[in-house]
Amino acid sequence: QPHLLGIEPLHPVEITTLLDLADTYAERNRKGLPGGDALRGLTQVNMFFEPSTRTQSSFEIAGKKLGAEVMNMGIAASSVKKGETLIDTALTLNAMRPDLLVVRHPMSGAVDLLAQKLQNCAVLNAGDGRHEHPTQALLDALTIRRAKGRLHRLSIAICGDIAHSRVARSNILLLHKMENRIRLVAPPTLMPPGIDAFGCEVFHDMEEGLQGVDVVMMLRLQRERMDGGFVPSEREYFHRYGLDAEKLGHAAPDAIVMHPGPMNRGVEIDGTIADDINRSVIQTQVEMGVAVRMAAMDLLAQNLRATRGRAALGEEV
Ligand code: CP
Repeated sequence: QPHLLGIEPLHPVEITTLLDLADTYAERNRKGLPGGDALRGLTQVNMFFEPSTRTQSSFEIAGKKLGAEVMNMGIAASSVKKGETLIDTALTLNAMRPDLLVVRHPMSGAVDLLAQKLQNCAVLNAGDGRHEHPTQALLDALTIRRAKGRLHRLSIAICGDIAHSRVARSNILLLHKMENRIRLVAPPTLMPPGIDAFGCEVFHDMEEGLQGVDVVMMLRLQRERMDGGFVPSEREYFHRYGLDAEKLGHAAPDAIVMHPGPMNRGVEIDGTIADDINRSVIQTQVEMGVAVRMAAMDLLAQNLRATRGRAALGEEV
C-alpha cells in the first residue's frame, strides 16, 4: 500500500505483517535500544487540524527513533487560519516535497483527498472525522495480541459512543477481518444505524453486553461531534454505561480493559478500573502506539523507496 488511510483496504496478511514488525520495535523500545535508520534521509510532516496528545507525540517519537527529520506544522499559527483551503495546503506541501505526511482532520475523507493531491509522498491517517483512525486500531490489536496471545476467536465488547467514533469504526473493521466476535454496547442514541450489518452483535445493556467477553474496550462521549443532538447527562450515563467493578464482573475473569484516550473518569470509566494494573492495559496501548507508528512508517518508507527506485530506472510506476 502507498498510504495508510484506513483499515478497510488492508488484507489480514498485511495487518499481521505490520503487527509482527511493531512487536519487534516494541521489544527494542522496552530494552532502550535504538530504533534504527529506516527513515534516515526522509522528511516527516505532522499536520494536526484537531487536538491530539497521544497520536501526535507518538508519531513524532516514532519518526525520530527511525532517523526522520520531523516537522510539526503548527496549524494554529498557519495560513489555514487565514482561510487557505485543503487543496491549496496540499499544493504548498507538494512544493516542499515531504516524504511522509501524517494528518488528523475533523472532516471524514479529508486525508484521502490530500493523498490524491500529493505526489511522491506517503500519507498516514491520524484520524479523519468519524471515518477512520487506523493506527489506533492497529495499536489496539497489538495490545490485545500481546495480552491474550492471539488476535482471533476472541469475544470483544466495544462500549459507549459508537455513533461518533472513528476508533470504533477502525477497530470493528480490523477485529472483524481477524475473525473475532464483536459486541457493541451503547444506548440506542449512540449506536449508528445498520451497524449489525458489520457482523456485530448489538446490546443496549452493559450486563448483557459484557457477558463472558475477553476484552472490554471503552469509548468516551464525543461531544464535539454531537452536532446539537441528544447529549446524555454524565451522571445518568455513568450509572448505566460507565465501566465499574460491578459491570466488569460480568466479563471473563481475565478480561482486559482498554480505552484509546483521552479518558473521562467518572463518565465512561471508573478511575479505579482505569488504574487497576491487573485489568487495565491503557498504558500499554500508549506504549504500543509508538511501536505501531514506527512499523507503519517503516513499511511505507520501504514502499516509497522501491517506487522511487523503479521510477529512477524509467519503469512505469
Ligand atoms: N487516541 C487518540 O487518538 O488520542 P489523542 O487524541 O490524544 O491523539
